Amino acid sequence: MLEIRNLTKSFGANIAVDAVSVAVAKPMMIGIIGRSGAGKSTLLRMMNRLTDASSGEILFEGRDVTRLKGAEKRGWQAQCAMIFQQFNLVPRMDVVSNVLHGTLNRRSTLATMFSLFPEADIHRAIDILDRLGIAEHAPKRAEALSGGQQQRVAIARALMQDPKIILADEPIASLDPMNAQVVMQSLRRIHEEDGRTVIANLHTLDTARRYCDRVIGMLHGRVVFDGTPEQLTTGTARDIYGADDSFSEAATSTEIETLDAAAARERAAVGV
Ligand SMILES: Nc1ncnc2c1ncn2[C@@H]1O[C@H](COP(=O)(O)OP(=O)(O)OP(=O)(O)O)[C@@H](O)[C@H]1O
Ligand SMILES: [Mg+2]
Repeated sequence: MLEIRNLTKSFGANIAVDAVSVAVAKPMMIGIIGRSGAGKSTLLRMMNRLTDASSGEILFEGRDVTRLKGAEKRGWQAQCAMIFQQFNLVPRMDVVSNVLHGTLNRRSTLATMFSLFPEADIHRAIDILDRLGIAEHAPKRAEALSGGQQQRVAIARALMQDPKIILADEPIASLDPMNAQVVMQSLRRIHEEDGRTVIANLHTLDTARRYCDRVIGMLHGRVVFDGTPEQLTTGTARDIYGADDSFSEAATSTEIETLDAAAARERAAVGV
């Protein structure tokens, strides 16, 4: 389905992504981990064509998308919708209009200027918000929502494009543990129920282990690990993070596990 071959990006003398090859044969949820500057964002940005590759290919269903231009490039960008750490919503605009912006690339300039959205699209936007558990917030301004709710609006906007792939660059890095969990569960559901591939850059090991079928570890622009969460041992993780013997998993972990433990204790206390 998706095959990245020898993908490279240089910024002057600095090679941000160095001959990365990754094949995705069927829809899956992939987590990309690695220390700051490893090239994770650059890799996702090249896939979405926000940045042009220096060399290499990205084949999607047999076609090299790194060479697409104009409408074809926009068509590809709709098929691999991207979400970001900072949500990138229009803060003062209502939630449903933010979601409808996910359809902009297939509407006329005039319709866009006057915010004329087809009724069918409005219904679909509300259905998607409902699925993500935030339909009640549809009329509110985006800025009035919590971070976790805003990220779900961003996911809804991505889903409006009916993408085959969702690229997420540190989707939970700005969220508290509770919201992080809700957002990761939403992404997981979208993968499982819709059969979409999700590729997420994650800054913590435990999140990648817990939600992803496959983990890719990057170091200095290269893929140094590609396997299942089970294959990702503490030793391998140490190699990926390039840490010395003082490396501990706790240093790269969120509080999601802690939160779960607390919830389990609570359930035990009330005898459920
Ligand atoms: N627009 C740019 N111009 C010049 N250098 C860049 C640019 N974008 C990224 N780089 C460099 O490319 C390398 C990889 O950066 P990238 O942002 O992909 O890393 P990352 O793994 O996403 O890191 P982080 O975890 O901090 O987000 C870094 O050395 C960075 O300084
Ligand atoms: Mg990054």
